[in-house]
Amino acid sequence: MSIFNVNPVTVDDYRRLAHKRLPRFLFDYLDGGANAETTLASNTSDFDQYRLLQRVMRNVDGVDTSTTLAGFDAAMPVALAPVGMAGMYARRGETQGARAAQSIGIPFTTSTLGICPVEEIVRATGEPIWFQLYMLRDRDVVQTLLARAQAAGCTTLVFTVDLAVAGMRLRDYRNGMLGTNIASKVSKLAQLVSSPRWVMDVALKGKPHTIGNLSDVVPDPDDLNVYKAFIDSQFDPSVTWNDIAWLRSIWPGKILIKGVMEVDDARAAVDVGADGVVVSNHGGRQLDSVASSIAKLPAIAQAVGAQAEVYLDSGVRSGIDVVKALALGARGVLIGRPWIYAMAGAGESGVANLLSTMRNEIATAMALAGVTRIEDITPDLLERTLDPVRV
Ligand code: FNR
Ligand code: LAC
Repeated sequence: MSIFNVNPVTVDDYRRLAHKRLPRFLFDYLDGGANAETTLASNTSDFDQYRLLQRVMRNVDGVDTSTTLAGFDAAMPVALAPVGMAGMYARRGETQGARAAQSIGIPFTTSTLGICPVEEIVRATGEPIWFQLYMLRDRDVVQTLLARAQAAGCTTLVFTVDLAVAGMRLRDYRNGMLGTNIASKVSKLAQLVSSPRWVMDVALKGKPHTIGNLSDVVPDPDDLNVYKAFIDSQFDPSVTWNDIAWLRSIWPGKILIKGVMEVDDARAAVDVGADGVVVSNHGGRQLDSVASSIAKLPAIAQAVGAQAEVYLDSGVRSGIDVVKALALGARGVLIGRPWIYAMAGAGESGVANLLSTMRNEIATAMALAGVTRIEDITPDLLERTLDPVRV
């Protein structure tokens, strides 16, 4: 930002602010992806494969971006994605994200691995939120967790299935976040010393830094090696579709299966009773070199879109991207890094501003593409880049 550019507007503007504010290892954990980050890059760049059609003279008075997402009356087809330890990026971060989502009227999803316990988040807004689950080896812990989420008023369960094991995020090794040798320790200390604002606001005033929903079973994750060790030892890699029947039997609300990239997996999810699927490669943080989410969306939407709600995440950075995802068959999208960049860089109001810009972008694009209702966003609105053939 300079004297001529004083207001952050885009995801990239907020990303730069987050980069300045956060210690390097936290920024890298947020910003990075798996291995060579090939998938991370194509998640955003593949949106460019599509172009919108400009349509004119169609009476676009009264554009309406509202819709329903898993039964939630939403002001636009966007939800905040679950992000583990959001409360390390800003003080009591999950509550800030939930309030910003509430201010615009979209769902907030809290992670199994949130810093704030689910009750604290629901108290902050007084409204239902969505709860994301990772399957843990200890099913009693899972059952207790879900009972808590339900008692707190969570309506929708987002069950994430693409983290049988954690992906290889190489930045975390390079910067010393994962590492206990002397160089790692010195580097971490230097990174903290160069982020005084974060240290004061989050590290000191943002405590406790436990994994709020699991504070009895996970040690304090201030040392991220502890967090990684918990994931490695307690996430259950033996989980299969059969376990969803059990989830269905103990969760009365909606279930969305997050992390599906293939048509037959989407069909399997619908067969076991999921209300929806999220086409997602976890923001390029898991299997590197897998295709972008947007590339996989059309086939999945075509295969299961009539029976279940199809969502997309990974790479959405603007309202234009949202319109493209809807045109390719998504009911809505989730955004992960964008809201965390905005919160780390500019707090709750940063997230609210980003969401408001996104909604304006959606509304403006709809008007200029000649539609006024979300359900009118169809493949007819798109063509392929450089090869203007309708998709
Ligand atoms: C995530 N994501 C994630 N997903 C999930 O189901 N549970 C979780 O705890 C987390 N944690 C997490 C931490 C961080 C730092 C990031 C960046 C992401 C994945 C997230 O929900 C979503 O799928 C991606 O972030 C979507 O990609 P974009 O929007 O970041 O490109
Ligand atoms: C991540 C996991 C924890 O992407 O979801 O970091």
